[in-house]
Amino acid sequence: METTISHPTYGTRSAPAGVAAGSPLTRIHGPAAALALVHDELDAAEQALRGLLHTDVAAVPAVGGYLASAGGKRLRPALTALGCLAAGFDRPRTRLLCVGELIHLGSLLHDDVVDEGGMRRGKPAAHRVFGNAVTVLTGDFCLARAVLLAAEEGGHDAVTALARAVTEMAEGEVLQLGHCGDLSTTRAEYLDIVNRKSAALIAWCVAAGALAQGDHPTARALERFGRGAGVAFQISDDTLDYSLETGKTMGADLRERKITLPLLFALSTDSELAAELADGPPAAERIPALADRVRRSGALDLARAEARARAEEAVSALDPLPPSLGRDALAELGRYLADRAS
Ligand code: IPE
Ligand code: IPE
Ligand code: MG
Ligand code: MG
Repeated sequence: METTISHPTYGTRSAPAGVAAGSPLTRIHGPAAALALVHDELDAAEQALRGLLHTDVAAVPAVGGYLASAGGKRLRPALTALGCLAAGFDRPRTRLLCVGELIHLGSLLHDDVVDEGGMRRGKPAAHRVFGNAVTVLTGDFCLARAVLLAAEEGGHDAVTALARAVTEMAEGEVLQLGHCGDLSTTRAEYLDIVNRKSAALIAWCVAAGALAQGDHPTARALERFGRGAGVAFQISDDTLDYSLETGKTMGADLRERKITLPLLFALSTDSELAAELADGPPAAERIPALADRVRRSGALDLARAEARARAEEAVSALDPLPPSLGRDALAELGRYLADRAS
């Protein structure tokens, strides 16, 4: 007779071998199922985020609200929520979920000024609409507001770890600037940059609940997962720079000669591409042809394979945690981050 298991969100299913009838569902399949687990919390965090951008200095919520309402995957609140589930953190956590997104908003406002990004979340980047000065200052507001919130909602350990993560993000962005156009950049240098600029915040988000309850062994396992998933996520972002339909400008990294993993793979096999980029930043009209060379070199497949391998390694960092829906959902989301199409 077939054994079934049930769960309030996903209904009744056939049980995997070895799972007794009536035991809780411990397998989550796909990112949608992972996110469905925290759907209501994410809705509540979305409402709270609007309030957190509020101040009587009207230009700040105008710029912050412009970016927040333009879209975005809300990956950082989702990872925070699933990390809380995996850590068994059951205190009210709506505002804790907003910390990572507020830091992310601040970093995007700054990043588009630094990268001269034209499009963000399918709309003209904030600095194109409001100018650099108020955009940078609103970014500062978001970062500071997030640190205050982490202190209020997560306490000493959480806010200390967050301050370290934000420090790393700044270091990563500055290191990256120094390597723009440096075609001798190594893979190790690239990985160091992405670990700091993107993975540090993702790791904090995943571990936030464990940090807030002072559970350090769990926080360490979740941070290890978040580091690996964060590197995989940034490699996949760097691969998607060669695609249309991301809501950002295609080929923005090439234009800046930003050294990314797909570009490193392409440079190692295509000497003409290397020669053209060695001459200086390419003219705008050369970007589509250069992007095509990178695609034809097979570099995007190699980078995707590397992202997948990093995600699998990250998932194994969850092994020390007790089995739970939160742990399985994190694993599913981690794999998706490496393999996503947008
Ligand atoms: C973009 O992050 C910036 C990176 C760190 C690569 P996301 O891809 O999470 O951006 P949104 O939030 O969905 O716009
Ligand atoms: C952004 O990296 C990292 C941040 C910390 C904001 P990218 O420069 O690759 O991000 P996008 O492609 O502009 O979103
Ligand atoms: Mg950028
Ligand atoms: Mg990018």
